[in-house]
Amino acid sequence: MDAEQMGADLETVLLTETQIQTRLGELGQEIWDDYKDKNVLLVGVLKGAVVVMADLMRALPGSAEMDWMAVSSYGSGTKSSGVVRILKDLDTDITDRHVLIIEDIIDSGLTLSWIRTNLQSRSPASVEICTLLRKPEAAKVEIDVRYVGFEIANEFVVGYGLDFAERYRNLREVGILAPHMYR
Ligand code: PRP
Repeated sequence: MDAEQMGADLETVLLTETQIQTRLGELGQEIWDDYKDKNVLLVGVLKGAVVVMADLMRALPGSAEMDWMAVSSYGSGTKSSGVVRILKDLDTDITDRHVLIIEDIIDSGLTLSWIRTNLQSRSPASVEICTLLRKPEAAKVEIDVRYVGFEIANEFVVGYGLDFAERYRNLREVGILAPHMYR
C-alpha cells in the first residue's frame, strides 16, 4: 500500500521509500563495519520492527542471525509505566553473544529501556540498539541508542511497520496520520 492508496487517512508523507532505503543502506554498512567479526544477533521486537528488520538485514553486506521478542505493557493504556511482560521470548541463548536490538520507533524509550535491561541480565557480550525512528521530544528516559535512522517530531506516524489500531503497517512510506482519524 502506498500513500496515494491511503487517501485522506494520511495527512502527509514524512519519509519516502527512497529516503528510508537510502538511510537503511547507510546504517547497514555502518553496522557491518562494527560487527563483521562478531557474529551479531539481530533481535526484532514484534510487531512494528518486522518491516525494518526485513530491509535492514538485507542491507547488511554479509550474513547475520535473527531472532524475535514480543512484549506487552501490563494492563491497558499503561505504556508509559515501563512495566513490560514478555509474550514471546528469544529462541537463542545470548550468553556471550553480541546483540543488536532492531526497533521501528522509540517514543518514550520505556519499552526499549526495559528490554535492554532484561537482555543485559543474560550475560551477553554486548547489547546495542538500532531504531529507524526516534522522537526526542517524547523521551521519558535516557536511553543510549547506537544507530538512529531518523529523528522525527512528536507526530502520530504510521507506515513501514507502524500502526494505528493495527492498520497501515503495510504502508510503504512513513506518514503522519490525518487528525480526523484519532480526534
Ligand atoms: C511500539 C514500538 C516500540 C514501542 C515504543 O510498539 O514498536 O516497541 O512502541 O514506545 P516507547 O518508546 O514509548 O516504549 P507497540 O507497543 O505499539 O507494539 P507494536 O510494535 O506491535 O506496534
